[in-house]
Amino acid sequence: MKIAVLISGSGSNLQAFIDDAACGKLSAEIALVLSNRADAFGLQRAADAGIATAVVDHKAYEKREDFDRAMLDALAPYSVDLVILAGFMRILTPVFISTYSGRLLNIHPSLLPKYTGLHTHQRAIDAGDKWAGATVHFVTEELDGGPPIVQARVPILRDDNVDALAARVLQREHRIYPLAAQWFAQGRLRLDARGAILDGEVLGPGGFQLDEPIS
Ligand code: GAR
Repeated sequence: MKIAVLISGSGSNLQAFIDDAACGKLSAEIALVLSNRADAFGLQRAADAGIATAVVDHKAYEKREDFDRAMLDALAPYSVDLVILAGFMRILTPVFISTYSGRLLNIHPSLLPKYTGLHTHQRAIDAGDKWAGATVHFVTEELDGGPPIVQARVPILRDDNVDALAARVLQREHRIYPLAAQWFAQGRLRLDARGAILDGEVLGPGGFQLDEPIS
């Protein structure tokens, strides 16, 4: 399986993909890392791993659709099976989403359907929630609203702050995101009209709940 990873920043999730692909936990070749920002640290991670990179600067396009078309053009030569949004902070239009429908995944730092959009950890702390977490989901035209695939939760501790909580959630992100991609590579995961299907079963709200100790 060939995948492309789209990033905007640090790329720690990208690193998890690189590491899992290197050790065989993920049966995939990362064919391209595409960033909308030339200064994204993830580009360095990709270069260090010998992965092709490309930058499509969203600021060079007036319309979101034109930016999306430029990204599609950058991706096309690589004929990837799966596109991974890993901290990619631009809203995609149907132009892009329809091209990769059913093979486009995102990770969102909340227990969806709670807290779509930004500032998820602060909102969870402010609400007095006991749990935060992350969700891998298929991307549809509804922002952060596509069918969930897998979710992991972490406790919100007394006196928690956003940075500490985000770091603990990220650890779980690095586990569940390559796992979802591996399910896809194995042909166990797909999207159909009923939602996300894993091993022939429609996944429930939130997707598969991966509750395992943090290693
Ligand atoms: C991750 O926490 C990811 O869930 C979040 O951005 C971070 C990227 O970290 N994504 C979103 O907020 C998408 N709306 P990374 O660059 O280190 O992988």
